[in-house]
Amino acid sequence: KQYEFILTSRPADGVGLITLNRPKALNALSTPLFTELNDAVKAFDDDDGVRAVVLTGSERAFAAGADIKEMKDKQFAEVFKGKFLESWSLLTTVRKPIIAAVSGYALGGGCELALMCDIILASPTAVFGQPEISIGVIPGGGGTQRLAHAIGKSRTMELVLTGRNFSAQEAAEWGVVSRVVGEGEGVVLKEAIELAQVIASKSAIAVQAGKEAVNAAYEHTLNEGLRYERRVFHSLFATKDQKEGMAAFAEKRKPTWSHS
Ligand code: HXC
Repeated sequence: KQYEFILTSRPADGVGLITLNRPKALNALSTPLFTELNDAVKAFDDDDGVRAVVLTGSERAFAAGADIKEMKDKQFAEVFKGKFLESWSLLTTVRKPIIAAVSGYALGGGCELALMCDIILASPTAVFGQPEISIGVIPGGGGTQRLAHAIGKSRTMELVLTGRNFSAQEAAEWGVVSRVVGEGEGVVLKEAIELAQVIASKSAIAVQAGKEAVNAAYEHTLNEGLRYERRVFHSLFATKDQKEGMAAFAEKRKPTWSHS
């Protein structure tokens, strides 16, 4: 499908790629861009041939935030009644894993967009931050909540109240990203696609269960989460892929998943 502000492709078997493509505005997240992004994410989620999704931007910017020029004249009644930003979290309702490959600026809504993904890989050039305080607002796409979960109160407060950026290195030290990849153009995207391929080579049903169970850690108490994990684990014994996976191990061969 042809979009105006994003590109979609299938760079490898089982992998869907979404590239934010508004280069002149450093991929500022406008409403039309987000509408397209949601559409593409949903299409990949509904597509049986896709088992992992990669989301990326350009070398210079993953996304420099929500589109400030679009937002600047909005009024309270309009944003409140129109539920401005509510649909921006559709990404978090997707079954399949989404990997963010971040180069350059991931600021404001761009940082929040990355935080909505399941795994973030960063290029050494990545610059994260929640600079909203400097334009008279606060993060509105989950930044205060997801960062607090990821890096704790003190660091989150400092970032949100000063608006200072943080580096790829800091992001890795704090656990915001799983790793910083080697230098070079396209390296982070290449690594993200390879990672997506590894995930796509597993049983899709087990991957979906794994993602749900990890996410439960952010929503439940420990006991509830442990019970949830165990129940999901039990339920996988009803799948063909559990039988196949364990039989293949015992027979010293590679499993062939039916994803069922
Ligand atoms: C609209 C933006 C934009 C944005 C950049 N541009 N960021 N337009 N909204 N968030 C546009 C610039 O206006 C400019 O357009 C072009 O992209 C290139 O940007 P420059 O500023 O010329 O580039 P540079 O000097 O390299 O500076 C890069 C930058 C800076 C440091 C990233 O652009 C910047 O500070 N951007 C805003 C970052 C920010 O505050 N983000 C948070 C937004 S609030 P022209 O037409 O002049 O060439 C937010 C709320 C989240 O995200 C709500 C929930 C999702």
